[in-house]
Amino acid sequence: MRILVNARNRGYEFEALPGEKVLYAGLRAGIDLPYECATGTCGTCKAKAITGRVRDGWPQAPGRKFVKPEAGEFLMCQCEAEEALTLEVSKFVYGMEPGACVPQTCAGTVHGARPLTHDVMGFQLELERPRDFDAGQFALLTPQGLSGYRAYSMCNFERGARQLDFVVKRKRDGGFSEWLFGANRDGARVETFGPLGKATFDPALGKNVLCIAGGSGIAGMMSILSRAARSGYFERYRGWVFFGVRGMRDAFFLHELSALQRQFPERLEITVALSDEDVPASAQSDLPGLGFARGMVHEVAKRAMAGRYQDVRAYVAGPPPAVDAAIRVLLLDAKLTTDNIRYDKFS
Ligand SMILES: Cc1cc2nc3c(=O)[nH]c(=O)nc-3n(C[C@H](O)[C@H](O)[C@H](O)COP(=O)(O)OP(=O)(O)OC[C@H]3O[C@@H](n4cnc5c(N)ncnc54)[C@H](O)[C@@H]3O)c2cc1C
Ligand code: FES
Repeated sequence: MRILVNARNRGYEFEALPGEKVLYAGLRAGIDLPYECATGTCGTCKAKAITGRVRDGWPQAPGRKFVKPEAGEFLMCQCEAEEALTLEVSKFVYGMEPGACVPQTCAGTVHGARPLTHDVMGFQLELERPRDFDAGQFALLTPQGLSGYRAYSMCNFERGARQLDFVVKRKRDGGFSEWLFGANRDGARVETFGPLGKATFDPALGKNVLCIAGGSGIAGMMSILSRAARSGYFERYRGWVFFGVRGMRDAFFLHELSALQRQFPERLEITVALSDEDVPASAQSDLPGLGFARGMVHEVAKRAMAGRYQDVRAYVAGPPPAVDAAIRVLLLDAKLTTDNIRYDKFS
């Protein structure tokens, strides 16, 4: 199906496969159409049909509250073209940079699913073919029998990766999380689309790095830290990581974080923020190199970072209220410019 996009700066033309959502077809063609969640919640991918009809795959999508269907508006991440389509996007749209990791579909098989806490599961997806992605990106996943994709951030970093590592926080009555937590899924086939996301890190950045993660938001930070550590980034630049959880029973990856900090003791500081309990006396001795503090992660980060924001790129991920609170600190207290604040809201 032929799709023409009139963006604010120029027009684009691409082909969508039968049943393929407009957003995914455009991204697959290397056109950086606007999106944030890519899964129907944020409204960022809003477009307006000028000619042609679309079919909405998920009319109950929360992001529909941002569109006016009577004016021809729709969510590109949820709608497919029923016929040749001309649409308008009220934003500047550019082609992806040469060398960008252009998103594609790829199937994978689940392996090594294991509990990391009482409500977080880790697993690997073995891909049918190798994929490139940038540190900090996410992929969309859907197992057989579930409608729609779910977004999960990669925890690892590898060029030509045969394996993607994920952590999944259990969501009560959530289709994907109940599927994963409810039975042994080793060997199960999962369709993916990706990589996606702009909260990416590359060592060419040349700035100090601040990571603020709420809960499973630590996933993408692990990918960033892995990329940075392997390139010796923290021999030249400073890194601060603030990982917010309710209590010690909710924390994971602590041994991995402790090992990373001990690799770069001079320039990497990692603090676990406990919002709902005091720091247990044993935490410090059990996990050398890590700092612990009581408080909401954005408040702990705000206290620790006061006066240290020179030349900083910040990455934020986790539940929307945690991300919003951290962004307020970064804009109002740190006075970072928006291009130095990269975030993923786990909506
Ligand atoms: C960029 C990004 C990165 C994320 N990374 C992580 C991570 O690393 N770890 C983590 O634990 N969480 C992450 N999340 C949150 C995670 O995506 C949600 O918790 C997850 O979607 C919940 O899925 P569920 O099936 O368990 O819940 P459900 O309530 O069943 O589904 C929630 C989501 O599934 C999709 N969906 C549901 N039904 C339909 C339908 N009929 N058609 C189309 N779509 C449908 C929608 O996206 C909806 O928001 C991330 C979110 C985003 C946006
Ligand atoms: S990108 Fe489509 S609703 Fe978020």
